[in-house]
Amino acid sequence: NWKMADFAPLEIARIRELVGDRALVLGAVSGGVDSTVGAALMREAIGDRFKAILIDTGCMRLNECEEVKQTLGEHLGINLTVVEAGELFMSRLAGVSDPEKKRKIIGSSFIDLFEKEAIRIEKEAENTPNTGKVEWFLQGTLYPDVIESLSFRGPSATIKTHHNVGGLPERMMNGQGLRLIEPLRLLFKDEVRAIGRKLGIHESLVNRHPFPGPGIAIRILGDVTQERVEIARQADHIFISKIKEAGLYDQISQAFAAVDTNRSVGVFGDQRVWGYIIILRAVQTKDFMSAEVFNFDHKFLADVSRTICNQVDGVARVVYDLTSKPPGTIELE
Ligand code: XMP
Repeated sequence: NWKMADFAPLEIARIRELVGDRALVLGAVSGGVDSTVGAALMREAIGDRFKAILIDTGCMRLNECEEVKQTLGEHLGINLTVVEAGELFMSRLAGVSDPEKKRKIIGSSFIDLFEKEAIRIEKEAENTPNTGKVEWFLQGTLYPDVIESLSFRGPSATIKTHHNVGGLPERMMNGQGLRLIEPLRLLFKDEVRAIGRKLGIHESLVNRHPFPGPGIAIRILGDVTQERVEIARQADHIFISKIKEAGLYDQISQAFAAVDTNRSVGVFGDQRVWGYIIILRAVQTKDFMSAEVFNFDHKFLADVSRTICNQVDGVARVVYDLTSKPPGTIELE
């Protein structure tokens, strides 16, 4: 019989048992609630033998990597290694516009970098007494990710390749002998949040809107270029800041700004411009498997639109996405 209150201590005990008292565990952390709760459980279970890394894909939100590093250090005592890989991701994504191709490139690049990190960490730990090899890889996979990524009806029924599910790769698992540890695999997001609170994780982390592993790259329809990433990042920052100022952040499950493939004509002063189109999305959902569009006051949206057009160079138009899930997914790709 499954009781939420028992989850953390039972899971911590299970992790200790599984990992034993020498092995190292590598974990990718994003600053989202899932990976943060996963990291907190690991840290509690095995202390410094848990090695947290954050891959900077170049597609993170404004100031995100520094903020995550600081918060994890302060709140959880985790010394996060940030791996700068923006250039690698940008060069591998150049000219690729198919969403599934983008996801696969991002997924396999993550794995290349994890492999490198595993080797680096083992080298570093060689002289530490009572320390073994990197044997485990932590993933913050949730139950809905498992359902959406695994196809129960054959390959054509796969909705999207979540970069962090199932894709972890035989190459990495068998090649390096790494085993997967997924403490949240049976949980829904609201359960993860409840556990986060129980573990004393700060409310601002627990309530953080989810952010997908592939990051802004799947919020830029079509080709991912540095210019479009920068535009998405700035527009997103304005949208989220306005949502917070209006006191709406906790009523919304997930909100972000995306960039359309096409451009649109606009007029600034007496100049014609041909600028980018920003798509704003905000949804309410309990389990992220279905979602309703959030109903903003039109005045709020008009203010966000005006501010984005005025402050973000190259944007000529802002639209609000009114599609629920289904038929739309939450992310645009
Ligand atoms: P969709 O777009 O599938 O999103 O309706 C449902 C939830 O999953 C997040 N998402 C991802 N998270 N890697 C992740 O870590 C991914 O590849 C990925 N794709 C979608 C999305 O942000 C939403 O919260």
